[in-house]
Amino acid sequence: MNGQLFVNTDRDLMMVLDADHRIMAVNDRVTEVSGLSAEECTGHCCYEIFTEQQETDSPGFTLRSCSGGEVSFSDLAPRGREKTFQVDSVPLSGPEGRNSYSLCIARDVTDVRNMEEKIFRTHRMETIGMLAGGIAHDFNNILTAILGFAEIARAKLSAGRPVTEELDEVIAASRRAADLVGQILRYSRAGDQQKKPLRMDLVVKEALKMLRSILPATIDILTDIAREETLVFADPTSIHQVVVNLCTNGLRAIGTEKGSLQVRLGKVFLSSSQVPAAANVAPGPFVELTVRDSGKGMDKKTMARIFEPYFTTGKQGEGTGLGLAVTRGIVQKYNGFIR
Ligand SMILES: Nc1ncnc2c1ncn2[C@@H]1O[C@H](COP(=O)(O)OP(=O)(O)O)[C@@H](O)[C@H]1O
Ligand SMILES: [Mg+2]
Repeated sequence: MNGQLFVNTDRDLMMVLDADHRIMAVNDRVTEVSGLSAEECTGHCCYEIFTEQQETDSPGFTLRSCSGGEVSFSDLAPRGREKTFQVDSVPLSGPEGRNSYSLCIARDVTDVRNMEEKIFRTHRMETIGMLAGGIAHDFNNILTAILGFAEIARAKLSAGRPVTEELDEVIAASRRAADLVGQILRYSRAGDQQKKPLRMDLVVKEALKMLRSILPATIDILTDIAREETLVFADPTSIHQVVVNLCTNGLRAIGTEKGSLQVRLGKVFLSSSQVPAAANVAPGPFVELTVRDSGKGMDKKTMARIFEPYFTTGKQGEGTGLGLAVTRGIVQKYNGFIR
């Protein structure tokens, strides 16, 4: 077994590992990225040549990648640069029997991940801008109430009458304002996406609460949110973004007409024939979110392009065409699909 076996692609890192996951051979790209010669790499585990510290969970990566699965990992930081690699591993047979070696191929997906991250952020800023507009409007209404009750209280006070009721109103309205500000802050601050067990019903309800503040009175929101636990393993901001985007698309489709938006959330069990083959997800239990609007819908030509980043039929200033691209990215990340 020797290094010349490899194709020296300028992108993929290739290594042959022995049964103990020690490097037997590497291609030129590995020496480039690690800054070590092929001889220096030989006999080491890959985490030893790519990271300064030799422990943490890197050995885990080695083991997982050697079992023939696919894994992304970051913090591979030769000379301070952080990179993300997608790793594939193929067991090889040698004179000692089956699986005595493995070929490990790591593809640098740093640029792809960075681009995805950028699109995600751009879209979130767009959403925040829109929500902020609605919230400012709501906030103004609350201020009007606070001012009104405060003025009544002042007039009553000078007449020597009790003002407890008015003060209660002022307090309640101020709490609503604080809650509103809290929502937008939580949403804009949640920069780092962290997956955790999440009750979809709660996130959807919170997103709808926010959306109500930007809805014109001509649009009804009808909700049907399952009472049972709709637990997913996801990051709340991403799910929030999905709901907001699907609903704002619906709102835009309805326009200034009278109309309605229906939002449904429930658990479903999908068999293999119900899961689209292209989705590449396993059949089983799913949480299904349905958003339906009374708008004009779209033609086939539009439908074929809706997931393209920057595809939009919205007028200037209305949308950037990122919404559904980001939405699909999020849903796929959580092993789901859109239909
Ligand atoms: N509910 C809907 N009804 C009709 N057309 C829609 C709907 N949702 C999305 N679309 C179409 O898909 C396009 C892309 O949507 P999206 O990615 O969210 O970008 P944007 O909302 O910024 O235009 C929209 O411009 C519109 O043409
Ligand atoms: Mg949109």
